Amino acid sequence: MEYKYSNDQKSLTKHDIHLVGVFSDKKLAHIDGVVSRESLDNIKRIIKTCNFSGKIGDHRTIDDFQTKKQLLLFGLGEKKKYGPLVIKKTLMQIFRKLLKTNISTVSITVDNLITSNKNEVTLEMIISSVENSKYEYKFKNEKDQSKIKTVSILSNKKISSKRFNEMLKISLAISNGISLAKELGNTPPNICTPTFLANTIKKLKSKYKSLKIKIIDEPEMKRLGMGAFLSVSKGSKQPGKIVIMEHMPVKSQNPIVIVGKGITFDTGGISLKPSPNMDEMKYDMSGAGSVIGVMKACAEMNLKKNVVGVITSAENMPGSQASRPGDVVETMSGLKVEILNTDAEGRLVLCDAITYAKKYNPKYLIDIATLTGACLVGLGKYPSGLFANDQALANKIKTSGDKTGDRVWQLPLFDDYFDELKTNFADIQNIGGRYGGAITAAAFLAKFTVDIKWAHLDIAGTAWEVGPNKGSTGRPVDLLIDFIRSN
Ligand code: BES
Ligand code: MN
Ligand code: ZN
Repeated sequence: MEYKYSNDQKSLTKHDIHLVGVFSDKKLAHIDGVVSRESLDNIKRIIKTCNFSGKIGDHRTIDDFQTKKQLLLFGLGEKKKYGPLVIKKTLMQIFRKLLKTNISTVSITVDNLITSNKNEVTLEMIISSVENSKYEYKFKNEKDQSKIKTVSILSNKKISSKRFNEMLKISLAISNGISLAKELGNTPPNICTPTFLANTIKKLKSKYKSLKIKIIDEPEMKRLGMGAFLSVSKGSKQPGKIVIMEHMPVKSQNPIVIVGKGITFDTGGISLKPSPNMDEMKYDMSGAGSVIGVMKACAEMNLKKNVVGVITSAENMPGSQASRPGDVVETMSGLKVEILNTDAEGRLVLCDAITYAKKYNPKYLIDIATLTGACLVGLGKYPSGLFANDQALANKIKTSGDKTGDRVWQLPLFDDYFDELKTNFADIQNIGGRYGGAITAAAFLAKFTVDIKWAHLDIAGTAWEVGPNKGSTGRPVDLLIDFIRSN
Protein backbone atom coordinates (compact mmCIF):
# COMPACT_ATOMS: atom_id res chain seq x y z
CA MET A 1 0.00 0.00 0.00
CA GLU A 2 1.36 3.36 -1.01
CA TYR A 3 0.39 6.69 0.54
CA LYS A 4 0.32 9.91 -1.45
CA TYR A 5 -0.47 13.48 -0.54
CA SER A 6 -2.29 15.73 -2.96
CA ASN A 7 -3.83 19.19 -3.17
CA ASP A 8 -5.32 18.53 -6.55
CA GLN A 9 -9.03 17.86 -6.54
CA LYS A 10 -8.84 16.69 -10.14
CA SER A 11 -6.95 13.67 -8.88
CA LEU A 12 -10.30 12.42 -7.59
CA THR A 13 -11.11 11.10 -11.03
CA LYS A 14 -8.11 8.81 -10.75
CA HIS A 15 -9.37 6.88 -7.72
CA ASP A 16 -11.90 4.09 -7.49
CA ILE A 17 -13.48 5.53 -4.40
CA HIS A 18 -13.35 8.76 -2.47
CA LEU A 19 -13.98 8.84 1.29
CA VAL A 20 -15.61 11.77 3.03
CA GLY A 21 -16.23 11.84 6.77
CA VAL A 22 -19.41 13.62 7.84
CA PHE A 23 -20.36 14.76 11.33
CA SER A 24 -23.88 14.10 12.50
CA ASP A 25 -24.56 17.83 12.34
CA LYS A 26 -23.79 17.35 8.63
CA LYS A 27 -21.94 20.61 8.08
CA LEU A 28 -19.54 20.18 5.21
CA ALA A 29 -17.78 23.52 5.26
CA HIS A 30 -14.34 21.98 5.62
CA ILE A 31 -14.39 19.90 2.49
CA ASP A 32 -15.35 22.86 0.35
CA GLY A 33 -12.55 23.23 -2.18
CA VAL A 34 -11.25 19.71 -1.68
CA VAL A 35 -14.07 18.23 -3.64
CA SER A 36 -15.47 20.31 -6.48
CA ARG A 37 -18.45 22.62 -6.09
CA GLU A 38 -20.57 20.15 -8.05
CA SER A 39 -19.44 17.20 -5.99
CA LEU A 40 -20.17 19.09 -2.81
CA ASP A 41 -23.68 19.95 -4.01
CA ASN A 42 -24.07 16.34 -5.00
CA ILE A 43 -22.98 15.12 -1.56
CA LYS A 44 -25.35 17.53 0.15
CA ARG A 45 -28.24 16.40 -2.03
CA ILE A 46 -27.49 12.76 -1.37
CA ILE A 47 -27.20 13.24 2.37
CA LYS A 48 -30.70 14.69 2.24
CA THR A 49 -32.30 12.14 -0.05
CA CYS A 50 -30.85 9.07 1.61
CA ASN A 51 -31.31 10.52 5.06
CA PHE A 52 -27.67 9.97 6.00
CA SER A 53 -27.36 10.35 9.76
CA GLY A 54 -23.65 10.97 10.13
CA LYS A 55 -23.68 8.69 13.17
CA ILE A 56 -20.70 6.47 13.82
CA GLY A 57 -21.24 3.27 11.85
CA ASP A 58 -23.49 4.87 9.19
CA HIS A 59 -21.87 4.78 5.80
CA ARG A 60 -23.18 5.08 2.26
CA THR A 61 -21.58 4.47 -1.07
CA ILE A 62 -22.90 6.53 -3.96
CA ASP A 63 -22.00 7.25 -7.54
CA ASP A 64 -20.42 10.63 -7.96
CA PHE A 65 -21.63 11.96 -11.32
CA GLN A 66 -18.98 14.62 -11.35
CA THR A 67 -15.98 12.30 -11.11
CA LYS A 68 -17.69 9.18 -12.49
CA LYS A 69 -16.29 7.39 -9.48
CA GLN A 70 -17.75 6.29 -6.19
CA LEU A 71 -18.10 8.35 -3.12
CA LEU A 72 -18.21 6.86 0.35
CA LEU A 73 -19.69 8.93 3.15
CA PHE A 74 -18.91 7.78 6.66
CA GLY A 75 -20.40 9.06 9.88
CA LEU A 76 -18.17 10.67 12.51
CA GLY A 77 -20.87 11.23 15.11
CA GLU A 78 -21.22 14.44 17.07
CA LYS A 79 -18.53 16.99 16.44
CA LYS A 80 -18.12 17.75 20.15
CA LYS A 81 -17.29 14.10 20.90
CA TYR A 82 -14.89 13.77 17.99
CA GLY A 83 -11.27 12.88 18.70
CA PRO A 84 -8.57 10.19 18.32
CA LEU A 85 -10.83 7.42 19.53
CA VAL A 86 -13.52 8.19 16.95
CA ILE A 87 -11.24 8.55 13.96
CA LYS A 88 -9.40 5.34 14.78
CA LYS A 89 -12.59 3.39 15.19
CA THR A 90 -14.32 4.71 12.08
CA LEU A 91 -11.33 4.39 9.73
CA MET A 92 -10.69 0.90 11.00
CA GLN A 93 -14.31 -0.08 10.28
CA ILE A 94 -14.31 1.40 6.77
CA PHE A 95 -10.94 0.06 5.70
CA ARG A 96 -11.60 -3.43 7.03
CA LYS A 97 -14.56 -3.46 4.62
CA LEU A 98 -12.70 -1.89 1.70
CA LEU A 99 -9.89 -4.39 2.07
CA LYS A 100 -12.34 -7.18 1.27
CA THR A 101 -13.30 -5.59 -2.08
CA ASN A 102 -11.43 -5.31 -5.36
CA ILE A 103 -10.94 -1.58 -4.97
CA SER A 104 -7.35 -0.65 -5.69
CA THR A 105 -7.17 3.12 -5.29
CA VAL A 106 -8.70 5.13 -2.48
CA SER A 107 -8.65 8.85 -1.81
CA ILE A 108 -9.66 10.49 1.40
CA THR A 109 -10.50 14.08 2.28
CA VAL A 110 -8.67 14.89 5.50
CA ASP A 111 -9.15 18.60 6.18
CA ASN A 112 -12.32 18.06 8.19
CA LEU A 113 -10.79 15.07 9.99
CA ILE A 114 -7.69 16.85 11.25
CA THR A 115 -8.29 18.97 14.35
CA SER A 116 -5.98 20.92 16.58
CA ASN A 117 -8.08 21.42 19.70
CA LYS A 118 -7.51 19.40 22.83
CA ASN A 119 -8.82 16.25 21.15
CA GLU A 120 -6.18 16.57 18.47
CA VAL A 121 -6.43 14.35 15.40
CA THR A 122 -3.29 14.30 13.28
CA LEU A 123 -2.43 13.07 9.82
CA GLU A 124 -0.05 10.58 11.45
CA MET A 125 -2.97 9.13 13.36
CA ILE A 126 -5.07 8.86 10.21
CA ILE A 127 -2.36 7.00 8.33
CA SER A 128 -1.54 4.62 11.16
CA SER A 129 -5.24 3.84 11.63
CA VAL A 130 -5.53 2.90 7.96
CA GLU A 131 -2.38 0.81 8.27
CA ASN A 132 -3.64 -0.89 11.43
CA SER A 133 -6.82 -2.00 9.70
CA LYS A 134 -4.69 -4.36 7.58
CA TYR A 135 -3.56 -6.50 10.50
CA GLU A 136 -4.58 -10.12 10.38
CA TYR A 137 -3.14 -13.05 12.28
CA LYS A 138 -0.76 -14.83 9.91
CA PHE A 139 -1.81 -18.39 10.72
CA LYS A 140 -4.93 -18.23 8.54
CA ASN A 141 -4.33 -19.90 5.19
CA GLU A 142 -7.02 -17.94 3.38
CA LYS A 143 -5.33 -14.70 4.18
CA ASP A 144 -7.16 -11.86 2.43
CA GLN A 145 -4.61 -10.24 0.18
CA SER A 146 -5.11 -6.50 0.29
CA LYS A 147 -5.97 -5.19 -3.17
CA ILE A 148 -5.66 -1.54 -2.22
CA LYS A 149 -2.53 -0.18 -3.88
CA THR A 150 -2.79 3.53 -3.28
CA VAL A 151 -4.30 5.71 -0.61
CA SER A 152 -4.25 9.40 -1.52
CA ILE A 153 -4.60 12.00 1.18
CA LEU A 154 -6.47 14.98 -0.24
CA SER A 155 -6.05 18.31 1.45
CA ASN A 156 -6.21 22.05 0.83
CA LYS A 157 -3.09 22.51 2.92
CA LYS A 158 0.25 22.25 1.23
CA ILE A 159 3.05 20.35 2.89
CA SER A 160 6.45 19.59 1.42
CA SER A 161 7.02 16.06 0.26
CA LYS A 162 9.94 15.90 2.68
CA ARG A 163 7.62 16.70 5.60
CA PHE A 164 5.04 14.21 4.34
CA ASN A 165 7.62 11.46 4.04
CA GLU A 166 8.86 12.11 7.56
CA MET A 167 5.32 11.89 8.83
CA LEU A 168 4.68 8.75 6.84
CA LYS A 169 7.77 7.09 8.27
CA ILE A 170 6.60 7.80 11.81
CA SER A 171 3.05 6.63 11.12
CA LEU A 172 4.26 3.37 9.62
CA ALA A 173 6.73 2.80 12.46
CA ILE A 174 3.90 3.18 14.96
CA SER A 175 1.53 0.85 13.14
CA ASN A 176 4.30 -1.71 12.58
CA GLY A 177 5.02 -1.64 16.31
CA ILE A 178 1.35 -2.19 17.07
CA SER A 179 1.16 -5.05 14.56
CA LEU A 180 4.16 -6.77 16.08
CA ALA A 181 2.64 -6.53 19.57
CA LYS A 182 -0.63 -7.98 18.23
CA GLU A 183 1.16 -10.77 16.43
CA LEU A 184 3.12 -11.80 19.54
CA GLY A 185 -0.04 -11.71 21.67
CA ASN A 186 -1.90 -13.90 19.18
CA THR A 187 0.85 -16.48 18.68
CA PRO A 188 -0.10 -19.71 20.47
CA PRO A 189 1.67 -20.50 23.73
CA ASN A 190 3.30 -23.69 22.45
CA ILE A 191 5.19 -21.49 19.98
CA CYS A 192 5.45 -18.18 21.82
CA THR A 193 7.74 -19.24 24.68
CA PRO A 194 10.32 -17.09 26.49
CA THR A 195 12.91 -18.41 24.02
CA PHE A 196 10.67 -17.42 21.08
CA LEU A 197 10.38 -13.88 22.45
CA ALA A 198 14.15 -13.70 22.88
CA ASN A 199 14.62 -14.91 19.29
CA THR A 200 12.16 -12.28 18.05
CA ILE A 201 14.28 -9.66 19.76
CA LYS A 202 17.48 -11.09 18.25
CA LYS A 203 15.91 -10.67 14.82
CA LEU A 204 15.02 -7.05 15.57
CA LYS A 205 18.58 -6.42 16.68
CA SER A 206 19.99 -7.70 13.40
CA LYS A 207 17.59 -5.43 11.50
CA TYR A 208 18.10 -2.18 13.44
CA LYS A 209 21.58 -0.85 14.07
CA SER A 210 20.54 1.29 17.02
CA LEU A 211 19.46 -1.73 19.09
CA LYS A 212 21.78 -3.43 21.55
CA ILE A 213 20.48 -6.43 23.40
CA LYS A 214 21.35 -8.49 26.44
CA ILE A 215 19.81 -11.82 27.35
CA ILE A 216 19.89 -12.91 30.97
CA ASP A 217 19.46 -16.67 31.27
CA GLU A 218 18.61 -18.65 34.39
CA PRO A 219 22.21 -19.39 35.51
CA GLU A 220 22.95 -15.66 35.37
CA MET A 221 19.74 -14.92 37.27
CA LYS A 222 20.97 -17.23 40.00
CA ARG A 223 24.21 -15.27 40.18
CA LEU A 224 22.23 -12.02 40.34
CA GLY A 225 20.03 -13.35 43.15
CA MET A 226 16.75 -13.12 41.25
CA GLY A 227 14.96 -15.56 43.55
CA ALA A 228 11.50 -14.17 42.81
CA PHE A 229 11.78 -14.57 39.04
CA LEU A 230 13.25 -18.06 39.37
CA SER A 231 10.48 -19.17 41.72
CA VAL A 232 8.08 -18.71 38.79
CA SER A 233 10.13 -20.14 35.93
CA LYS A 234 11.28 -23.26 37.78
CA GLY A 235 7.87 -24.92 37.46
CA SER A 236 8.28 -25.07 33.69
CA LYS A 237 10.55 -26.93 31.32
CA GLN A 238 10.79 -23.75 29.28
CA PRO A 239 13.74 -21.71 30.53
CA GLY A 240 12.85 -18.19 31.66
CA LYS A 241 14.55 -15.17 30.13
CA ILE A 242 14.96 -11.50 30.88
CA VAL A 243 15.88 -9.62 27.72
CA ILE A 244 17.08 -6.02 27.61
CA MET A 245 16.90 -3.88 24.49
CA GLU A 246 18.81 -0.62 24.47
CA HIS A 247 18.04 2.14 22.00
CA MET A 248 20.37 4.90 23.18
CA PRO A 249 21.25 7.30 20.35
CA VAL A 250 21.79 10.29 22.67
CA LYS A 251 24.97 10.75 24.74
CA SER A 252 24.47 11.07 28.50
CA GLN A 253 20.69 11.17 28.65
CA ASN A 254 18.96 9.08 31.28
CA PRO A 255 16.73 6.63 29.44
CA ILE A 256 13.05 6.00 29.82
CA VAL A 257 12.85 2.35 30.83
CA ILE A 258 9.83 0.20 30.02
CA VAL A 259 9.48 -3.25 31.58
CA GLY A 260 6.92 -5.75 30.27
CA LYS A 261 5.45 -8.82 31.94
CA GLY A 262 6.06 -11.76 29.62
CA ILE A 263 4.31 -14.79 31.09
CA THR A 264 3.91 -16.82 27.90
CA PHE A 265 1.29 -18.98 29.59
CA ASP A 266 -0.24 -18.57 33.02
CA THR A 267 -1.81 -21.74 34.38
CA GLY A 268 -1.65 -20.25 37.86
CA GLY A 269 0.98 -22.82 38.88
CA ILE A 270 0.13 -24.93 41.95
CA SER A 271 -2.62 -22.38 42.69
CA LEU A 272 -4.10 -23.67 39.44
CA LYS A 273 -6.60 -21.56 37.53
CA PRO A 274 -10.04 -22.94 36.64
CA SER A 275 -10.15 -24.31 33.09
CA PRO A 276 -12.81 -22.11 31.40
CA ASN A 277 -11.10 -19.54 29.15
CA MET A 278 -7.66 -20.59 30.30
CA ASP A 279 -6.53 -20.27 26.66
CA GLU A 280 -6.69 -16.51 27.19
CA MET A 281 -3.69 -16.78 29.45
CA LYS A 282 -1.48 -16.89 26.35
CA TYR A 283 -1.97 -13.11 26.35
CA ASP A 284 -0.23 -12.89 29.68
CA MET A 285 2.89 -11.82 27.77
CA SER A 286 1.17 -8.75 26.30
CA GLY A 287 3.16 -6.34 28.44
CA ALA A 288 6.35 -7.82 26.96
CA GLY A 289 4.77 -7.80 23.50
CA SER A 290 4.02 -4.09 23.81
CA VAL A 291 7.57 -3.37 24.96
CA ILE A 292 8.96 -5.22 21.92
CA GLY A 293 6.55 -3.32 19.65
CA VAL A 294 7.58 0.03 21.12
CA MET A 295 11.29 -0.74 20.78
CA LYS A 296 10.82 -1.73 17.14
CA ALA A 297 8.96 1.52 16.50
CA CYS A 298 11.63 3.65 18.20
CA ALA A 299 14.35 1.99 16.14
CA GLU A 300 12.37 2.19 12.90
CA MET A 301 11.55 5.89 13.27
CA ASN A 302 15.11 6.60 14.37
CA LEU A 303 13.89 8.33 17.48
CA LYS A 304 16.45 10.63 19.07
CA LYS A 305 15.60 9.58 22.62
CA ASN A 306 17.18 7.05 24.93
CA VAL A 307 14.84 4.17 25.62
CA VAL A 308 15.49 0.81 27.27
CA GLY A 309 13.00 -2.02 26.92
CA VAL A 310 13.05 -4.98 29.29
CA ILE A 311 10.96 -8.13 29.02
CA THR A 312 10.69 -10.52 31.90
CA SER A 313 9.52 -13.80 30.49
CA ALA A 314 8.63 -17.19 31.95
CA GLU A 315 5.94 -19.82 31.77
CA ASN A 316 3.88 -20.33 34.93
CA MET A 317 3.30 -24.08 35.19
CA PRO A 318 2.50 -26.54 37.96
CA GLY A 319 4.99 -29.38 38.33
CA SER A 320 7.17 -31.19 40.81
CA GLN A 321 9.66 -28.33 40.73
CA ALA A 322 7.05 -25.60 40.96
CA SER A 323 6.83 -23.19 43.88
CA ARG A 324 4.38 -23.99 46.65
CA PRO A 325 2.09 -21.62 48.51
CA GLY A 326 4.06 -20.85 51.66
CA ASP A 327 7.47 -20.79 49.99
CA VAL A 328 9.69 -17.85 50.89
CA VAL A 329 12.14 -16.51 48.30
CA GLU A 330 14.68 -13.71 48.28
CA THR A 331 14.42 -11.07 45.57
CA MET A 332 17.37 -9.37 43.89
CA SER A 333 16.64 -6.29 46.01
CA GLY A 334 17.13 -8.30 49.19
CA LEU A 335 13.47 -8.18 50.22
CA LYS A 336 12.15 -11.63 51.15
CA VAL A 337 8.75 -12.59 49.77
CA GLU A 338 6.30 -15.18 51.04
CA ILE A 339 4.46 -16.70 48.08
CA LEU A 340 0.90 -17.29 49.26
CA ASN A 341 -0.56 -17.71 45.80
CA THR A 342 1.51 -18.96 42.88
CA ASP A 343 -1.00 -17.36 40.52
CA ALA A 344 0.22 -13.93 41.63
CA GLU A 345 3.34 -14.57 39.53
CA GLY A 346 3.46 -11.39 37.45
CA ARG A 347 4.66 -9.26 40.35
CA LEU A 348 7.33 -11.88 41.12
CA VAL A 349 8.90 -11.80 37.66
CA LEU A 350 8.52 -8.02 37.48
CA CYS A 351 10.15 -7.10 40.79
CA ASP A 352 13.51 -8.65 39.88
CA ALA A 353 13.49 -7.19 36.38
CA ILE A 354 12.69 -3.76 37.82
CA THR A 355 15.50 -4.04 40.37
CA TYR A 356 17.89 -4.97 37.56
CA ALA A 357 16.67 -2.09 35.38
CA LYS A 358 17.53 0.46 38.05
CA LYS A 359 21.17 0.23 36.95
CA TYR A 360 20.18 2.41 33.98
CA ASN A 361 19.27 5.32 36.30
CA PRO A 362 15.95 5.67 34.52
CA LYS A 363 14.43 9.09 34.04
CA TYR A 364 11.15 7.24 34.36
CA LEU A 365 10.44 3.54 34.71
CA ILE A 366 7.09 2.25 33.51
CA ASP A 367 6.06 -1.37 33.82
CA ILE A 368 3.30 -2.81 31.68
CA ALA A 369 1.53 -5.98 32.76
CA THR A 370 -1.62 -8.06 32.43
CA LEU A 371 -1.36 -8.15 36.19
CA THR A 372 -4.80 -8.69 37.72
CA GLY A 373 -8.27 -9.92 36.95
CA ALA A 374 -9.33 -7.36 39.55
CA CYS A 375 -8.32 -4.52 37.22
CA LEU A 376 -10.58 -5.94 34.54
CA VAL A 377 -13.41 -6.26 37.05
CA GLY A 378 -12.93 -2.73 38.35
CA LEU A 379 -12.34 -0.74 35.19
CA GLY A 380 -13.72 -2.91 32.42
CA LYS A 381 -12.13 -3.19 28.99
CA TYR A 382 -11.68 0.45 28.07
CA PRO A 383 -8.96 2.08 30.16
CA SER A 384 -5.77 0.48 31.43
CA GLY A 385 -5.22 0.85 35.18
CA LEU A 386 -2.59 3.46 36.02
CA PHE A 387 -0.56 3.62 39.24
CA ALA A 388 2.40 5.84 40.03
CA ASN A 389 4.61 7.03 42.86
CA ASP A 390 5.04 10.42 41.15
CA GLN A 391 1.96 12.46 40.21
CA ALA A 392 3.72 14.48 37.50
CA LEU A 393 4.61 11.22 35.75
CA ALA A 394 1.04 9.92 36.12
CA ASN A 395 -0.26 13.13 34.54
CA LYS A 396 2.09 12.79 31.59
CA ILE A 397 0.89 9.23 31.00
CA LYS A 398 -2.73 10.39 31.22
CA THR A 399 -2.01 13.06 28.63
CA SER A 400 -0.55 10.49 26.24
CA GLY A 401 -3.54 8.23 26.88
CA ASP A 402 -5.97 11.00 25.94
CA LYS A 403 -3.91 12.11 22.95
CA THR A 404 -3.84 8.63 21.44
CA GLY A 405 -7.23 7.33 22.57
CA ASP A 406 -5.29 4.58 24.37
CA ARG A 407 -6.94 5.54 27.63
CA VAL A 408 -5.86 5.03 31.25
CA TRP A 409 -7.50 5.58 34.62
CA GLN A 410 -5.50 6.20 37.76
CA LEU A 411 -6.09 4.26 40.98
CA PRO A 412 -4.77 5.20 44.44
CA LEU A 413 -1.83 3.77 46.37
CA PHE A 414 -2.82 4.67 49.96
CA ASP A 415 -0.69 3.31 52.82
CA ASP A 416 -3.55 1.01 53.88
CA TYR A 417 -2.99 -1.17 50.81
CA PHE A 418 0.63 -1.71 51.78
CA ASP A 419 -0.45 -2.92 55.22
CA GLU A 420 -2.23 -5.81 53.52
CA LEU A 421 1.12 -7.15 52.29
CA LYS A 422 2.50 -7.68 55.82
CA THR A 423 3.29 -11.21 56.97
CA ASN A 424 4.91 -12.92 59.96
CA PHE A 425 7.17 -15.02 57.77
CA ALA A 426 8.93 -12.62 55.38
CA ASP A 427 9.28 -8.91 54.58
CA ILE A 428 6.25 -8.98 52.35
CA GLN A 429 3.69 -11.46 50.99
CA ASN A 430 2.71 -11.68 47.35
CA ILE A 431 -1.04 -11.12 47.71
CA GLY A 432 -3.27 -8.72 49.61
CA GLY A 433 -6.73 -9.32 51.04
CA ARG A 434 -9.92 -10.07 49.20
CA TYR A 435 -10.62 -6.60 47.83
CA GLY A 436 -8.78 -4.12 45.64
CA GLY A 437 -6.55 -6.75 44.04
CA ALA A 438 -5.29 -4.48 41.26
CA ILE A 439 -4.10 -2.00 43.86
CA THR A 440 -2.43 -4.43 46.25
CA ALA A 441 -0.60 -5.89 43.22
CA ALA A 442 0.62 -2.40 42.31
CA ALA A 443 1.55 -1.77 45.95
CA PHE A 444 3.73 -4.88 45.83
CA LEU A 445 5.62 -3.43 42.85
CA ALA A 446 5.84 -0.02 44.51
CA LYS A 447 7.93 -1.64 47.27
CA PHE A 448 10.67 -2.14 44.68
CA THR A 449 10.56 1.33 43.19
CA VAL A 450 10.79 3.71 46.16
CA ASP A 451 13.91 5.44 44.83
CA ILE A 452 12.83 6.02 41.21
CA LYS A 453 10.01 7.74 39.34
CA TRP A 454 7.79 4.80 38.54
CA ALA A 455 4.42 4.06 36.99
CA HIS A 456 2.58 0.81 36.41
CA LEU A 457 0.00 0.06 33.73
CA ASP A 458 -2.33 -2.87 34.38
CA ILE A 459 -3.47 -3.92 30.92
CA ALA A 460 -5.40 -7.06 31.90
CA GLY A 461 -8.58 -5.55 30.46
CA THR A 462 -7.17 -3.66 27.50
CA ALA A 463 -4.56 -5.95 25.91
CA TRP A 464 -7.09 -8.13 24.20
CA GLU A 465 -10.56 -8.18 22.88
CA VAL A 466 -13.15 -10.88 23.50
CA GLY A 467 -16.03 -11.81 21.19
CA PRO A 468 -15.93 -12.13 17.40
CA ASN A 469 -12.80 -9.97 17.14
CA LYS A 470 -11.09 -12.02 19.83
CA GLY A 471 -7.41 -11.24 19.76
CA SER A 472 -4.62 -8.99 20.83
CA THR A 473 -5.24 -5.22 20.64
CA GLY A 474 -1.63 -4.07 20.59
CA ARG A 475 -2.35 -1.73 23.49
CA PRO A 476 -0.69 0.27 24.99
CA VAL A 477 1.94 0.61 22.25
CA ASP A 478 0.32 3.80 20.97
CA LEU A 479 0.29 5.43 24.40
CA LEU A 480 3.88 4.44 25.17
CA ILE A 481 5.28 5.75 21.89
CA ASP A 482 3.51 9.06 22.41
CA PHE A 483 4.80 9.22 25.99
CA ILE A 484 8.38 8.56 24.90
CA ARG A 485 8.20 11.05 22.03
CA SER A 486 6.81 13.80 24.23
CA ASN A 487 9.01 13.35 27.30
N1 BES B 1 -2.40 -13.03 34.49
C1 BES B 1 -3.25 -12.95 35.62
C2 BES B 1 -4.15 -11.74 35.57
C3 BES B 1 -5.24 -11.74 34.54
C4 BES B 1 -6.47 -12.30 34.83
C5 BES B 1 -5.03 -11.15 33.34
C6 BES B 1 -7.47 -12.27 33.89
C7 BES B 1 -6.03 -11.14 32.40
C8 BES B 1 -7.25 -11.69 32.68
C9 BES B 1 -2.42 -12.85 36.89
O1 BES B 1 -1.21 -13.51 36.88
C10 BES B 1 -3.23 -13.45 37.97
O2 BES B 1 -3.47 -14.61 37.91
N2 BES B 1 -3.63 -12.65 38.92
C11 BES B 1 -4.45 -13.10 40.01
C12 BES B 1 -3.91 -12.50 41.28
C13 BES B 1 -4.47 -13.11 42.51
C14 BES B 1 -4.00 -14.54 42.66
C15 BES B 1 -4.04 -12.30 43.70
C16 BES B 1 -5.86 -12.65 39.75
O3 BES B 1 -6.06 -11.57 39.19
O4 BES B 1 -6.77 -13.40 40.07
MN1 MN C 1 -1.40 -15.54 37.45
ZN1 ZN D 1 -0.38 -13.80 35.06
